[in-house]
Amino acid sequence: MPIEIKSVGVLGGGVMGAGIAQALAVGGLKVAVRDISDELIEKARSTIVDGRYGLKRGVERGKTTQEQMDAAIANLSFTTNLDDLKDVDLMIEAVPEDLDLKKKVWAEADGVVQPQAVFATNTSGLVIGELNQAVSESRRPQFIGAHWFSPAPVMKLVELVHAPETAEETLQALESVCQRIGKASVRVKDAPGKYGFIANRVYFAAVREAQAVLAEGIASAEDINKAMVQGYNWPIGPLAMVEGARKGWQ
Ligand SMILES: NC(=O)c1ccc[n+]([C@@H]2O[C@H](COP(=O)([O-])OP(=O)(O)OC[C@H]3O[C@@H](n4cnc5c(N)ncnc54)[C@H](O)[C@@H]3O)[C@@H](O)[C@H]2O)c1
Repeated sequence: MPIEIKSVGVLGGGVMGAGIAQALAVGGLKVAVRDISDELIEKARSTIVDGRYGLKRGVERGKTTQEQMDAAIANLSFTTNLDDLKDVDLMIEAVPEDLDLKKKVWAEADGVVQPQAVFATNTSGLVIGELNQAVSESRRPQFIGAHWFSPAPVMKLVELVHAPETAEETLQALESVCQRIGKASVRVKDAPGKYGFIANRVYFAAVREAQAVLAEGIASAEDINKAMVQGYNWPIGPLAMVEGARKGWQ
């Protein structure tokens, strides 16, 4: 039986949580964002409305209409109270990358949120089969990784990371959400001991080689970047990308 997702809760309204909430609200889903203080809730709201990748900028740049922005804002709500998210169909967690914190947050959600809800963590590299131990055994088939890329309102990819316990219906439910909001999804198995699912793992392997070529003195940073842009049609060289990320693209 397919799982239908109409409403979403987002735990953590930081860089990723706010961006994910925005992408879902623009895509027509009802989204409730939970953070831990009124100040943080206000920050999440202002990231979504006034931020660099926010709704107002989208209207200014002609990417979104005023009506789409108003509809997205009407789809959003903000709270510090987890109980307000108890009826969501899908819960997405985007709290800091700390195994113990994430487990605590999921255990708390498991006790509050309706039993049929799907749980998706935005972890960048923690093991899904370890995080899912925080929820009851009956919920584990509905537990999955959904790794978004930053900035979430702009980047198209969501990696769906499944543990052995994750049900096919759960993968399909997330695939259907991604399709509905115009994101591309890929499936990837949990791989304990490996970091970075598909895109980050492959990308950082290339970055490590680029750094090795530089350290060996074989070529300059400029020529390493140029080689990949001109030789492989990369939009940006690997070392330039790392430098950009360090300065705050992500
Ligand atoms: N930043 C990126 O480029 C990026 C990309 C992909 C995935 N991720 C992953 O997304 C997750 C979040 O990263 P981020 O960059 O958005 O972090 P962030 O620090 O910007 O945001 C985390 C938010 O979670 C809130 N929070 C903490 N405890 C909470 C709780 N109990 N309930 C609700 N909210 C709580 C914090 O107050 C904060 O607002 C991490 O797992 C990270 O690895 C990050």
